[in-house]
Amino acid sequence: MAGNSASVRGSFGSKFGVIAAAAGSAVGLGNIWKFPYITGVYGGAAFLFVYLGFIVAIGLPVMISEFTIGRKARKNAFGSFKKLAPKTPWYVTGFLGVGAAYLILSFYGVVAGWAMNYTVEALKGSFNGKTPDELTSFFTSFIASPFKPIFWQLSFMFLTGLIVIMGVQKGIERYSKLLMPLLVVILIILMFRSMTLPGASKGLAFLFKPDFSKLTWEGVLSALGHAFFSLSLGMGTLITYGSYINNKNNLGKTALQVTLADTVIAIFAGMVILPAVFAFNIEPGAGPGLVFITLPNVFLQMPGGYFFSILFFILLTVAALTSSISILEVVVAFLSEELKMSRRIATILAASSIALVGAFCSLSMGHLDYAIFLGKNFFDTVDFFSANIFLPFGGLFISLFMGWHLGRKKTLKELSNHGEIKIWYIKPLIFSLRFIAPIAIFIVSIYGIYENVVSYLASLN
Ligand code: PHE
Repeated sequence: MAGNSASVRGSFGSKFGVIAAAAGSAVGLGNIWKFPYITGVYGGAAFLFVYLGFIVAIGLPVMISEFTIGRKARKNAFGSFKKLAPKTPWYVTGFLGVGAAYLILSFYGVVAGWAMNYTVEALKGSFNGKTPDELTSFFTSFIASPFKPIFWQLSFMFLTGLIVIMGVQKGIERYSKLLMPLLVVILIILMFRSMTLPGASKGLAFLFKPDFSKLTWEGVLSALGHAFFSLSLGMGTLITYGSYINNKNNLGKTALQVTLADTVIAIFAGMVILPAVFAFNIEPGAGPGLVFITLPNVFLQMPGGYFFSILFFILLTVAALTSSISILEVVVAFLSEELKMSRRIATILAASSIALVGAFCSLSMGHLDYAIFLGKNFFDTVDFFSANIFLPFGGLFISLFMGWHLGRKKTLKELSNHGEIKIWYIKPLIFSLRFIAPIAIFIVSIYGIYENVVSYLASLN
């Protein structure tokens, strides 16, 4: 029966397709744009270690849970909870997830639009002859301008919608299989270039030698939020993808491979960007502009830099695209299954309304920058709430759902493909889902929010 409904709903065609799509979702702006700069902001290696701890103790168990829930229910994020826990409020988790998808994609599309614009600028050779200061103002005046970033954000949302409309196998899977290998190759080439720059070792020390005195609670919260964001967890993306995975797939192994790929690629991106930051004396805590300001500097210094700059920004766009399709799919699967819309209508409706919210995110970088909540503009507010609050709390509910509601027996049955594979890690998995993940997420989130409010209040005086 499950196989039947899966074929009606669309499904992934091969094992590699599953990995490409799920890793495509995980690997994105989070790895290449966000990870290096938040590592910079929160002090380097100490942040990295906390992040890795969260990945292993919380991220991996939650990823296994999402795949398991999705495949067992064979429904969208909201419908999965309704099906597995009828007549209970668990569906709120799925509902929150759909909301988080909305918010995340709205600002995600803006940054991806920047990447598209930079691809064109790289093609035009616009970085040529610019000093580091000029590259900085090139970026800041671009993101603050009213039309250009919105034009690119809309173009990006259009591409995202186009792939999603084509369906799970012919759209999402096909493009992920095409684009992911390309991304890896280019990243490795850039890494070698960056690490052979004079002064690169300082960047590597920053990334790998921890100084725990630099770590703040806000840093810890961000590490947790980023673990969820980077692994695409907490809002049902991987529940939705899990619902397209066939019954023979070893879900635990798939989750491990996706987690490893995501983590390795984030570290590689750090090894591309941080050595370059130090080699060119740029502040590693520069924030969101790091990739858009630092890398053009690097490209100017390297042989073939023109070529590599084009390639890099194409790949940043591509990484963003394989993630944005997974975010849009959460909303589209929800609309088409729960509200019985056609895939086409659901995609058009979701993509265009998300693009509208995104346009406000973009404008908040310039014309609407007076609209400030808790010391943050609209863009940062959406980023902060979705990544640091919605996703961790989504993850909290998912852990509790698996650990306590579904429980060990049903989890084991689904995860082992009805006894076909041995799940030696079931004990630590259930333990993490019942205790470690929920308690850690709760403490870190509450304390992180508290510290954020306190520092905001302090900034008022
Ligand atoms: N994981 C993606 C990235 O790192 C972003 C994402 C978040 C995708 C949440 C899906 C769900 O860029």
